[in-house]
Amino acid sequence: MKEMAALQKLPHCRTLVLLCFLLATLWDARAGQIRYSVREEIDRGSFVGNIAKDLSLEPLALAERGVRIVSRGRTQLFALNPRSGSLVTANRIDREELCGQSAQCLLNFNILLEDKLTIYSVEVEITDINDNAPRFGVEELELKISEATMPGFRIPLKSAHDADVGENTLQKYALLPNDHFSLDVRSGVDGNKYPELVLESALDREEEAVHHLVLVASDGGDPVLSGTSRICVKVLDVNDNAPVFTQPEYRVSIPENTPVDTRILTVTATDVDEGYNAQVAYFLDKSLGETSEVFELQSTSGDLKIIKVLDYEDATSHEIDIEAQDGPGLLTRTKVIVTVLDVNDNAPEFDMTSASSSVSEDSPPGTIIGLFNVHDRDSGQNAFITCSLPDNLPFKLEKSVDNYYRLVTTKALDREQFSFYNITLTAKDEGNPSLSTDAHILLQVADINDNAPAFSRTSYSAYIPENNPRGASIFSVTAHDPDSNNNGHITYSFVEDTIQGTPLSSYISMNSDSGVLYALRSFDYEHFRDLQLWVIARDSGNPPLSSNVSLSLFVLDQNDNAPEILY
Ligand SMILES: *[C@@H]1O[C@H](CO)[C@@H](O)[C@H](O)[C@H]1NC(C)=O
Ligand SMILES: *[C@@H]1O[C@H](CO)[C@@H](O)[C@H](O)[C@H]1NC(C)=O
Repeated sequence: MKEMAALQKLPHCRTLVLLCFLLATLWDARAGQIRYSVREEIDRGSFVGNIAKDLSLEPLALAERGVRIVSRGRTQLFALNPRSGSLVTANRIDREELCGQSAQCLLNFNILLEDKLTIYSVEVEITDINDNAPRFGVEELELKISEATMPGFRIPLKSAHDADVGENTLQKYALLPNDHFSLDVRSGVDGNKYPELVLESALDREEEAVHHLVLVASDGGDPVLSGTSRICVKVLDVNDNAPVFTQPEYRVSIPENTPVDTRILTVTATDVDEGYNAQVAYFLDKSLGETSEVFELQSTSGDLKIIKVLDYEDATSHEIDIEAQDGPGLLTRTKVIVTVLDVNDNAPEFDMTSASSSVSEDSPPGTIIGLFNVHDRDSGQNAFITCSLPDNLPFKLEKSVDNYYRLVTTKALDREQFSFYNITLTAKDEGNPSLSTDAHILLQVADINDNAPAFSRTSYSAYIPENNPRGASIFSVTAHDPDSNNNGHITYSFVEDTIQGTPLSSYISMNSDSGVLYALRSFDYEHFRDLQLWVIARDSGNPPLSSNVSLSLFVLDQNDNAPEILY
């Protein structure tokens, strides 16, 4: 208020001088009408005009003539000083209250001189001062614009209002500098100005979700008064971003014996949009038929589980294609590479390439009995195999290339000692715990005629009483041959000889199978008393082997002769 009063002082004096000059001419031109002009908001009691002078009356005479202001039902805004004849303001005058937006504000009243009932018409013009700043109906405005809105889009804004008139009323709008919007002011047919916001460059909610703008409305007064409206532009989301995985590719290694239902990995994709546009769901690419039988993806959490046991020996790795899709359906793909780690779940296996079922007992040391291969479906240490066999056997293993082994003899075999071998081969891997497999090779030792029949004694003696019946069995010999079959099949015979000119075979015969000797004649002690022969035992091998033994037959005397008197 103080400021205003100070500012008003200068134009006040000047106005007065101007007014006096103006009014003098007015008075002449339009008799009966007095016209003044006064600024609004002037202090109470301020001078408006000198009535006495303008009516050409002595100031003192005014009071005597009973001067007063007559107004029709209005609050009296002016007062007369009867002694000085001055018209002064009786109250604070607000032009806006009296005349609103009208360009000219005129107040009319009359002055009555009671003595002669003379009436004068007075008109006071109230001039405007810039006592009102432009004002917005809403000081905070919230707007919502989709981020997909094209540049050039216009949004009408609420106008401001300034109660003053002329230069003192609203003159212009301005928008404080910002990155995306400009202001355009349209003039309506009514002459009013309507501000519109113009989108200059595309918005991106993900970059800046809210823009704060300030709209300033200012008038043309001196000094300029202004009013502001804060505009909050909220950028509405559009699904202009697909989800993005946290990694371009995921890798995980799991042992093949990982139990079913184990979560092995979680994939995550984020979407910078908001709400439904940022709701990410995960899917397995079902085109990989086999993979979807092994893995299951939780569509909301991104947890990847195994639903079937893995087998390193089946597949050492799996490549899984995964999609992340936001609410409206924008999608992104990623890959999960699952490396299956070997576990020692396979025992070594034997593969007999060739194996003899029998070997001759005369085979020299180093004879190859068989060739076999060992392998293990696991890998690394789990497939590193060592092969062994019991060390009390006359065999050894010779390692060849690529896990091939030869089974060879270490010394001469003897069928008569061991006719067959049940060879246990053990293949053992280096896993932890290690697994092993046994294989059995049944090896027959084939016979060789390497044993001659052997008699139980080095020589035999037999005693036969004379006069034996013919055909009586007189003795039997037995020989033994440890070889088998023909090699052990013995036939007996004796070496032909003559006794006193008669072939031995006419005296005795022999059963070649049983070795039993028969007397073909009745022996006569008096004829001969003993008999020497060689018995031969021969096997049926090829070539046959034989051995002989001497047999002495003694004829025993019987009393078969009566004494005889010769002379
Ligand atoms: C060989 O030995 C193994 C174990 O000692 C046994 O199970 C198998 O029956 C044997 N084979 C023969 C033909 O005797
Ligand atoms: C009996 O055997 C010996 C050696 O074993 C041999 O030298 C001899 O010739 C054989 N005698 C007969 C009659 O076959």
